[in-house]
Amino acid sequence: MLLEAHALQVSYGPTQAVQEMSMHIAEGEIVTVLGANGAGKTSLLKALQGVVKPARGDVVFKGKSVTRQSAAWRVGQGLVLVPEGRQIFVSLTVHDNLLMGAYTRRDNPEREIEAIYERFPNLAKRRDMLASVLSGGEQQMLAIGRALLSRPTLMMLDEPSLGLSPLLVQALFKLIRDLHHDGLSILLVEQNTHMALATAHRAYVLELGRLVLEGSTRELASDPRMAAAYLGT
Ligand SMILES: Nc1ncnc2c1ncn2[C@@H]1O[C@H](COP(=O)(O)OP(=O)(O)OP(=O)(O)O)[C@@H](O)[C@H]1O
Ligand SMILES: [Mg+2]
Repeated sequence: MLLEAHALQVSYGPTQAVQEMSMHIAEGEIVTVLGANGAGKTSLLKALQGVVKPARGDVVFKGKSVTRQSAAWRVGQGLVLVPEGRQIFVSLTVHDNLLMGAYTRRDNPEREIEAIYERFPNLAKRRDMLASVLSGGEQQMLAIGRALLSRPTLMMLDEPSLGLSPLLVQALFKLIRDLHHDGLSILLVEQNTHMALATAHRAYVLELGRLVLEGSTRELASDPRMAAAYLGT
């Protein structure tokens, strides 16, 4: 198993954001985590990356417990989160943002940066511009490009389609399928339930921090509990 979470609990003072959450991702899978605002999706991803410390539970990556390891260490092992709201460095150029993605590496990342520019021609054209001038879609591409430079095995994406036009949402999901085709495993948190169910192999559904449904996306897409709560039917 590539990633396992065992009975993970995330608390902020009295708020229990994630309770007793267990899940797994096999190599080569696209897995989605769905749930309403405040369900605990971001908290779960942050605990998996190690940017918040879980109150309880265990995170296992590539067969080893990483619960006591820092976020940076986990990135070095190939566990990489593209955070909600992208969090690119707006006062740096596009190129320098990409360089930041490679900061933990000792080798020269320039060839891989060129490969990112080939994948995202819009970024290539704007390589010397400040990231603050990028459109929402371009910022999302930059955030993903930066994450790719840390050579992930498992990429976790927190609401990557937020704020994108329908055309860009299509392009983003095509990119996710392309990255998966190239060998990346993916954990996707999405508000766009339809697209997430169409793209992922399996899904976990959270409600108020608790796992309420899990299964293959094919099964869940026709599950009446899903339909009522998340598909608006
Ligand atoms: N830093 C924090 N301090 C206190 N409470 C927090 C903090 N971060 C999140 N919470 C609370 O934890 C719960 C889960 O939040 P979280 O951001 O994980 O949900 P989410 O499913 O990602 O929601 P959204 O879909 O709106 O992004 C919410 O009740 C939220 O208010
Ligand atoms: Mg969130």
